[in-house]
Amino acid sequence: MDKNVNLRAAILSDIHLRDSFVRRRFLTRGLKNIKKRDYDLFVTLGDTTDHGNKTAWFAAQRLLEAVRPAKRSLAVIGNHDTWNRDARKPGQSEIDASLPLFLDFLRKTSGIVSKTAWYKAEVKGVPFIVLGTVGDSVGGKLGDEQLVWLDEALKEAAKSEGFIFVLSHWPLKNTHGLPKTFGEKELNENKCSWGDESDKLNAILQKYDRVVLLSGHSHMGWVPHEKLRIRGFSSVEVVGNILSVNLPCCSINHDGYLLPGYGLDLTVTPDAAVFRLRNFILPGSPAVDKLTIEKK
Ligand SMILES: [Fe+2]
Repeated sequence: MDKNVNLRAAILSDIHLRDSFVRRRFLTRGLKNIKKRDYDLFVTLGDTTDHGNKTAWFAAQRLLEAVRPAKRSLAVIGNHDTWNRDARKPGQSEIDASLPLFLDFLRKTSGIVSKTAWYKAEVKGVPFIVLGTVGDSVGGKLGDEQLVWLDEALKEAAKSEGFIFVLSHWPLKNTHGLPKTFGEKELNENKCSWGDESDKLNAILQKYDRVVLLSGHSHMGWVPHEKLRIRGFSSVEVVGNILSVNLPCCSINHDGYLLPGYGLDLTVTPDAAVFRLRNFILPGSPAVDKLTIEKK
């Protein structure tokens, strides 16, 4: 990373936009507040839509195009984004019906042309590696092709000396209190994370230094230190050689103690990554918590 690089990003997860005036107003207000802070990058970390149908994707696209919350924008696919039940034809899977809409949204809002839900991007010299699912269940499905690609992408990103941000809607299994924190006791550990491919994914991530895995999906609010675990959950975990940070949901968190509208404000300097919890909906809302990761 260039010595002078100082990236600022606003990251929201689990927006769950649906055909609702209130939800559109809510997101519009958040995007406008983000724009006022002059960020380099806006990220929606999956479950941008409540159901990945045309109406929801077009609504999200129109809002992003109208407000342009940051200089650059990246989008990650989440499980709700793949649940396009409206468009499913006989024999067609929900992911097949949803993926073209996600890729079109990505192209129009990020300028990124990709044939897959996984891709990489560089913003002000900072590498972002985006994971995507090839399935349409509540957990993510990587597939062998993506795992091979990921290893190559990390190898390339590791040539620079800065942090490598891996953006993924799903956390690794058994992290951030999963599977218990997902709220459905009958779900096993493989159903609400990267599941039975999680160990393979983790093995690849562990090979590289300075990897920060950012995820959402849990809707568990923000518990910024491992020592403060609530019901086994903390938002920040050291997993071997990597740091895993699980974002609060921007709409409804399970525990209900965190109001809607929260996301993370990220500043990347050559020596550190600083996360601040911030409510992007409430005007003038100050950052309420701060997590600094210094480069080894
Ligand atoms: Fe969600």
